[in-house]
Amino acid sequence: MPEENKIDSLLRRRGFIWQSSEIYGSLSGFYDYGHLGTLMKRKFENLWRSYFLGSDKNFFEISTSTIMPEEVFKASGHLDHFTDPVVKCKKCGFVERADQLLERQLHEKFEGLDKGELSHLIKKHNVKCPKCGGDLGEIEEINLMFPVDIGPYSKIRGYLRPETAQSSYLNFLREFNSLRKKLPMGLAIIGKAFRNEISPRQGVYRMREFTQAELQVFFDPEKINEAPSWEKIKDYKLRLTPVSSRDEVIEIACEEASTKLGLPRYYLYFMTLIQKFYVEILRVDKNKIRFFELSEEERAFYNKIHWDLEVNIEGFNGFGEIAGLHYRTDHDLKSHQNLSGKSQEVFHKGKRFIPHVIEVTFGVDRNIYALLELSCHKRDDKVVLSLPPKLAPFDCAVFPLVNKDGLDEKAEEIYNELRKYFNCFYDGSGSIGRRYARQDEIGTPLCITIDYDTMKDDTVTVRDRDTTKQVRVEIKDLKDKISEFLEES
Ligand code: GLY
Repeated sequence: MPEENKIDSLLRRRGFIWQSSEIYGSLSGFYDYGHLGTLMKRKFENLWRSYFLGSDKNFFEISTSTIMPEEVFKASGHLDHFTDPVVKCKKCGFVERADQLLERQLHEKFEGLDKGELSHLIKKHNVKCPKCGGDLGEIEEINLMFPVDIGPYSKIRGYLRPETAQSSYLNFLREFNSLRKKLPMGLAIIGKAFRNEISPRQGVYRMREFTQAELQVFFDPEKINEAPSWEKIKDYKLRLTPVSSRDEVIEIACEEASTKLGLPRYYLYFMTLIQKFYVEILRVDKNKIRFFELSEEERAFYNKIHWDLEVNIEGFNGFGEIAGLHYRTDHDLKSHQNLSGKSQEVFHKGKRFIPHVIEVTFGVDRNIYALLELSCHKRDDKVVLSLPPKLAPFDCAVFPLVNKDGLDEKAEEIYNELRKYFNCFYDGSGSIGRRYARQDEIGTPLCITIDYDTMKDDTVTVRDRDTTKQVRVEIKDLKDKISEFLEES
């Protein structure tokens, strides 16, 4: 993955995203969102919320702590298994993830290989330190969690959560009881997670502090082959790259994926939901995405079935993971039951059992970055971000044609009214062409100009970012027209 992609300077210059603590040289893996990035991130999260939580009456969002006690991660397996294999140069001390070092030198993927396999490859290919050419030491497994000492004196060991998911498991029974003991039940968390990545040199793709949007769906494992509205989705074609054919994307209907690939119907239901979110809501060209199956060695230690949703962009140097669908079985609830001694069983429809979990997980920052890159193109040598209007930081911008003859006061009046309902930007400086160009560059879908005709007939021009066409709209209809446009787009 290139360290500096074509859109990175635009994202910094215009107020989307850049490395944190810049004036002190920045720490790798930490990023700040500026005013535009924050507006867009909020819109993405709200779309995610309304789409995934809206898909089932029994799916809800919770908000939970980011620091949790050590026992949580002992039970979940993160303490023992959430590690990366690391090599250190014996001569200059350079440290790198062993699989990534091999990947860079041999141009193949090695994620998921164990310590022994990676050591063997390093010896076989006589891989040396990329910095000084020195010999590499033995591979060590390093845990990726950030430890925290809680309390100034007591020093209770805790960790910054490496995924939001664990909080949903810990709160499962309480929510199950307060939500009238129904399954399936979904608990979503949108929030920060933290991973002490070894060498995060891949921009927002590998951050140490990042935002996840995760939905844990608790269900009766005997119902895993039942999907809501199966008749409606069974012919829907998914874009899949199974382990058995890594070099291609096959388009295959859910029905066929169930019979030929043995994927459970409830899992396919969520694959469909995710793919439709990208294609129908985020308007991503379907040829840019695929579900990529992880093999037994590659998948996370808690998963029985694991496909990532990947997007193909330059900034990720090809396909990169931006979401995942995990069948975690009863791994987490059972482990928490065993360590805490507190039963996690439910009594549901005459049976007593520990529910299983399907997890829908999104890396919010990676999604924002990918959507920005995908929407970036040039028109007459000027950058236009063709973001779906529902994702654009500003819904509209308001300009007076000139700052005199009352046009500026009228423009401010219209702006003050519109900003009650929309994310609206006011710009009164520079030529009108420059102002359109500045809004195109940040993806504002509609620009409203107040001109001399406005003063005569109470109409304004509304310019469409994508077609550059302008129409005249009566001021009294502006709010409804903008709402309609955003609703339909
Ligand atoms: N909760 C799954 C993940 O962090 O990838």
